[in-house]
Amino acid sequence: MTSTTSLEERLASIVGAAHVLVDRDVVASYETDWTGRFRGRAHCVVRPADTNEVADVVRACGAAGVSICVQGGNTGLVGASVPVDGAVLLSTTRLTRLDPVDVVSAQVTVGGGVTLAALQQHVRASGLDVGVDFAARESCTVGGMVATNAGGERVLRYGTMRAQVLGVEAVLADGSMVSRLAGLPKDNTGYDLVSLLAGSEGTLGIIAALRLRLVPLQPGRSVALIALADTAAAVSVVRRLRERLPSLEAAELFFADGLALVREKTHLAPPFPTERPAYLLVECAQATDPTDDLLAVLEDCPEVADATVASDPRGRHALWAYRESHTESINAAGVPVKLDVSVPLPALADAVAALPKAIAAVAPKARPILFGHVNEGNLHVNVLDAVDRAEDVSAAVLRLVASYDGSISAEHGVGRAKREWLHLSRSPAEIAVMRTIKNALDPAGLLNPGVLL
Ligand code: FAD
Ligand code: MLT
Ligand code: ZN
Repeated sequence: MTSTTSLEERLASIVGAAHVLVDRDVVASYETDWTGRFRGRAHCVVRPADTNEVADVVRACGAAGVSICVQGGNTGLVGASVPVDGAVLLSTTRLTRLDPVDVVSAQVTVGGGVTLAALQQHVRASGLDVGVDFAARESCTVGGMVATNAGGERVLRYGTMRAQVLGVEAVLADGSMVSRLAGLPKDNTGYDLVSLLAGSEGTLGIIAALRLRLVPLQPGRSVALIALADTAAAVSVVRRLRERLPSLEAAELFFADGLALVREKTHLAPPFPTERPAYLLVECAQATDPTDDLLAVLEDCPEVADATVASDPRGRHALWAYRESHTESINAAGVPVKLDVSVPLPALADAVAALPKAIAAVAPKARPILFGHVNEGNLHVNVLDAVDRAEDVSAAVLRLVASYDGSISAEHGVGRAKREWLHLSRSPAEIAVMRTIKNALDPAGLLNPGVLL
């Protein structure tokens, strides 16, 4: 680049002028996060189409001394996908490579910008499925899912995103490329760079492509929505289901206040004639219809106050809507302080009881709505009417969680939202190692400055 060539011109020479966005109105649509709480200002938006273009963009930004914010579907919930002022926003949405499914290995190689829904459609045509699933599927990208080590609704059966990734092709901060897409399940040749990138939130490298492990597509599915007295009852029912049903795939918890918000937003009918304090949604999946097995276990659970079961796609979808509509319904009620935490499962019921009290102590008018993934002790603590007290609310919630030996981030990551609280979940020695790794791979702090560390 000559001194008279602007960064935009250099980027346009790499990706084509149509893929360098500078119009303020267009750029603005990339500058606010999904929750509406985090905003930034981008230098411009650049949309590379393949790994080589990503590498050239990174080199051009490095040469100009301009940092890069990596953005996939912008569904992240910790403010990590919006730029700090002046960064180039690198959008991965044109990295849409979809290789043929390798049915022999049950693997596939795809671009980092492929959405989860597009990936599901692609692999299901070959009788296979993706081990991770959640409500943002139409927009979130697989690169973003690896970068956040996304969890979701199937972790109890298949693990988090890290467990699905066998290889990546990534561009590092100096523009160099690491490519490991052979998909070898056994490959002990030193440090695991693939695993290191999982959960790195765009701070160590840009995931341009990845090799994913796939799981069998299970055509027999049964969903039960179960009404309960409290969280302890949910934990107890999940324990019995887990012990007796290898087909158990999801166990999701929500409460009467969350259901009321969902019904207000969606106008869904009440699921049961009587309102109950807690609701557990479970899904079993296998080759044949698992309904009878599921009902047999539920009949042995005295905690079940009411239950409804569906095995047809429409009925299952209708039950999932009560759970999956939580995020949008909460956002429709205002900008929430979103805290995603986990505690050891034996402490889950205590935490659910203690969290609203801890929040009320610092923000008396706040409205906490809790829901989450039971089996991992993962609670989504959403606090409405408290955005002006976000720091106090975060401190109260995260300190309480730390007192249970929990994690300040179960699945959404640290981002900008929880950076100053990292010390509650990681020791000084661990944070020092993380800084050393960041400095080694990105000494100039080019990638996602202000995120995580
Ligand atoms: P973005 O939001 O664009 O980015 C997220 C982070 O990843 C940022 O740090 C960004 O810089 C980085 N990044 C993105 N792409 C790349 C790349 N190719 N290379 C390197 N870094 C990259 N999350 C869960 O874990 N479980 C859930 O159940 C869940 N449910 C959700 C439901 C809804 C309705 C919504 C809105 C969100 C939900 N999320 C959930 C959060 C979010 O969808 C996930 O974190 C998802 O993985 C983010 O993907 P994305 O493509 O939108 O990433
Ligand atoms: C979920 O499980 O629905 C998500 O992680 C999204 C959220 O926390 O709102
Ligand atoms: Zn979740």
